[in-house]
Amino acid sequence: MKTSMEGYTILFFCSLLLSIFLTSTATDTITMSQPIRDGETIVSAGGSFELGIFSPDSMKRYLGIWYKKISIPTVVWVANRESTPLVDSSGVLKVTKEGILQLLNRNGSIIWSSNSSRWAQNPVAKLLDTGNLVVIDEKDDNPENFLWQSFDYPCDTLLPGMKLGRNMTTGLEWHLSSWKSTDNPSPGDFTYRLDPQGFPQFVVRDGSVEQFRSGPWNGLHFSGFPDQIPYTTYNPHFVFNQKETYYTDELCNDSVVTRLVLNRNGIIQRFSWNDQTQDWDLSQSVPKDNCDNYAICGAYGSCNIGNSQDYCGCLKGFVPKSQQDWDISDYSNGCVRRMPLNCGSGDGFTKHSGIKFPDTRYSWYNESMTLKECESLCLKNCSCMAYTSLDVRNGGSGCLLWFGDLIDIRAFPEDKKEIYIRMASSEIGMSLSLKLDQVGSKKKKRVWIIVSLALLVGMVFLGLGLTLFVRKKKKLSREGKKGHTVERGYTTEELELPLFDLATVANATNNFSINNKLGQGGFGLVYKGVLEDGQEIAVKRLSKNSRQGLNEFKNEVIHIAKLQHRNLVKLLGCCLQVDETILIYEFMPNKSLDFFIFDHTRSILLDWTKRFQIIIGIAQGLLYLHRDSRLRIIHRDLKAGNILLDNKMNPKISDFGLARSFDENETEGNTKKVVGTYGYMSPEYAIDGLYSVKSDVFSFGVLLLEIAWRLYIEGKPLELIDASIGDSSNTSEVLRAIHVGLLCVQRCPEDRPNMSTVVLMLGSESELPQPKQPGFFNERNLVGTDSSSHKHEPCSTNEVTITLLEAR
Ligand SMILES: *[C@@H]1O[C@H](CO)[C@@H](O)[C@H](O)[C@H]1NC(C)=O
Ligand SMILES: *[C@@H]1O[C@H](CO)[C@@H](O)[C@H](O)[C@H]1NC(C)=O
Ligand SMILES: *[C@@H]1O[C@H](CO)[C@@H](O)[C@H](O)[C@H]1NC(C)=O
Ligand SMILES: *[C@@H]1O[C@H](CO)[C@@H](O)[C@H](O)[C@H]1NC(C)=O
Ligand SMILES: *[C@@H]1O[C@H](CO)[C@@H](O)[C@H](O)[C@H]1NC(C)=O
Ligand SMILES: *[C@@H]1O[C@H](CO)[C@@H](O)[C@H](O)[C@H]1NC(C)=O
Repeated sequence: MKTSMEGYTILFFCSLLLSIFLTSTATDTITMSQPIRDGETIVSAGGSFELGIFSPDSMKRYLGIWYKKISIPTVVWVANRESTPLVDSSGVLKVTKEGILQLLNRNGSIIWSSNSSRWAQNPVAKLLDTGNLVVIDEKDDNPENFLWQSFDYPCDTLLPGMKLGRNMTTGLEWHLSSWKSTDNPSPGDFTYRLDPQGFPQFVVRDGSVEQFRSGPWNGLHFSGFPDQIPYTTYNPHFVFNQKETYYTDELCNDSVVTRLVLNRNGIIQRFSWNDQTQDWDLSQSVPKDNCDNYAICGAYGSCNIGNSQDYCGCLKGFVPKSQQDWDISDYSNGCVRRMPLNCGSGDGFTKHSGIKFPDTRYSWYNESMTLKECESLCLKNCSCMAYTSLDVRNGGSGCLLWFGDLIDIRAFPEDKKEIYIRMASSEIGMSLSLKLDQVGSKKKKRVWIIVSLALLVGMVFLGLGLTLFVRKKKKLSREGKKGHTVERGYTTEELELPLFDLATVANATNNFSINNKLGQGGFGLVYKGVLEDGQEIAVKRLSKNSRQGLNEFKNEVIHIAKLQHRNLVKLLGCCLQVDETILIYEFMPNKSLDFFIFDHTRSILLDWTKRFQIIIGIAQGLLYLHRDSRLRIIHRDLKAGNILLDNKMNPKISDFGLARSFDENETEGNTKKVVGTYGYMSPEYAIDGLYSVKSDVFSFGVLLLEIAWRLYIEGKPLELIDASIGDSSNTSEVLRAIHVGLLCVQRCPEDRPNMSTVVLMLGSESELPQPKQPGFFNERNLVGTDSSSHKHEPCSTNEVTITLLEAR
């Protein structure tokens, strides 16, 4: 007791001494007569940044700059990362009379030094409040006259005001390079730098291999970062001319702390400091999924992460170059034209939107041309494959032309920027007539879908290659790599489901500790667990005497074990040992959708872009169940609580305890026992026990309305929507989603669209049919069972809604 008291006293005196000591040297300047030693620091005038010698591991010491006001140590710049570190605490930083900064070790050898281009009378080094360490002639802090600045030598962090790009006059190049590891700041394998060929873009490389491309700047943002807007805290700037090309962030509010980092895994992340939580908020992270991998689908291939079959497809009018390769999920050879170009006798262009613009390495641009001039210039040159406006602001200006094959394209359904791709005129005629069919009658629409499917041969073959895809996907998908556990246990022959050992499961869940409990269902408890290899799992344990539970369990296993889709929760295995019945799933860190949308504060976290992604994901998952899965399944209990969210807020449909499969011919079932959740249940199911894909569509409609309607109606929403993209097209997207939702909850099942139509309707801008009266469960009795009767007036709110939808 006594010794610890003494300890505290000593500690107290030490910290007192330290604070006196620190305040006495709290200057922002190093002069020739006042070098700094290890343990001493300088602090910028406003107190934002601090410079000194730090040690990421116990052996090596580096000169660096970090945030002063932030409780989490965050180094933003390191001087001697490319040379040798200091090995003891005798390092000294001084300014020479030539205006050069030198870092010296115990022996007085120079470990690192800066440069200077000019002579100065009285050079000093000063740490500015931007985090920039500059060498200036004393009292002359005009940026034009800096003798040297650390902002010219970025490490892994881009602070507001720093530049990324190139000064053609001086030859200076600014790029980011990752740290080798969290405790080693020397340059790692990844770089993020300007590629000046063609229209400039930024590229993340691993060594010399392209990993990710920012895409071309379109006046507002890079094509590969469609969700970068809006900027409320900083303004991105991209400057390009003959003399210099660079990107920079400009702060709108000096009290905001934001940084862009190239992390040691090659991921570009934007962090902003959150004063409330005292932590960094991650607001952006690219590459964000497999589709961001450079050229993953080859030339003219487009990667769509929402595809139910596989990520890669061909652009419209293109087919896989080698169907064989495509079948085994080798997309590197990409796609080729179905109809060859006929340059002399007039090709044309088809408009595409919702994609990341192709690699601009072989491109040409002109800032003053109009889009019309751009088109005719492209048409004149047979190797010009696409064109677009250079700058989308003010209705579009300038011209960007692509030469040679178009590569590294991905789908960004929410991005409306347009690009025009060269096509044979015969191809353009055909797609026009298809479009006309599309606006025709219902029957024609089906014909259109069939025709277009037949035309997109690539897609069909993708469907055939499903099993191969499942195996191959592992190779392609980073997530897949850690997710698959087939090798872990034996597989039960019938279900191809890995078996887990009870001891393993008990171990992973701390012996089913109550602290690991995630939730409780009618059947038993759900626990969180961590396997020995670090993989997180969710463990559903059937309580010992639940017969109902056992049936649902079996049902779940039978249905889900054979399904593989990114929007369905993945069953990793099961454990049937002693008298235990346990299912093991992938773990979903963000809980379920109801956790977000029904909670006033959490609901704010879900902006429209995320909501729309969630809607699309659920629709894709359901479409897969209804149409594309081996079993063809009706879920029967679709609701917000059964939509789980992964760490990227991707939705995954879960809980197949009530699911039923049906044959191709049989599209409607009948049950005496109505199970499910009222509120989501279609009237024909709740009352007559009739279930079909259309009862799932109904539940989907309710979900869609819950997701979209709440955002829309709660007042704040329109700001939210607008703020989340800064583009009024979002408002119309919300209204469109609501409109589709209303179509899904129509009273008669025949009137409701099927899921493939829903997916089409959500993803296009075509005109939507007028919704009829919705079939709410409690209304059915009033209106009567004759569902074709529309004598009763629909309630006025619905009418208002519908008019509202039309007015926009
Ligand atoms: C300093 O010099 C001595 C001998 O000249 C050498 O052995 C030692 O490694 C040097 N230390 C550093 C830190 O360079
Ligand atoms: C210093 O300047 C010289 C010539 O201007 C250049 O070759 C060298 O790379 C520079 N060194 C640093 C560390 O910037
Ligand atoms: C590029 O260098 C020239 C000449 O030193 C200078 O005038 C110009 O401001 C520099 N541009 C940038 C963006 O630093
Ligand atoms: C700047 O940000 C701070 C804290 O986020 C806020 O209190 C202040 O009102 C903002 N100032 C302006 C001009 O937006
Ligand atoms: C860009 O287009 C304008 C208008 O057509 C033309 O006057 C100008 O010469 C072009 N610039 C280049 C570099 O081709
Ligand atoms: C077409 O454009 C390419 C790339 O700019 C150029 O090399 C070629 O000479 C052009 N061909 C014609 C006929 O203008």
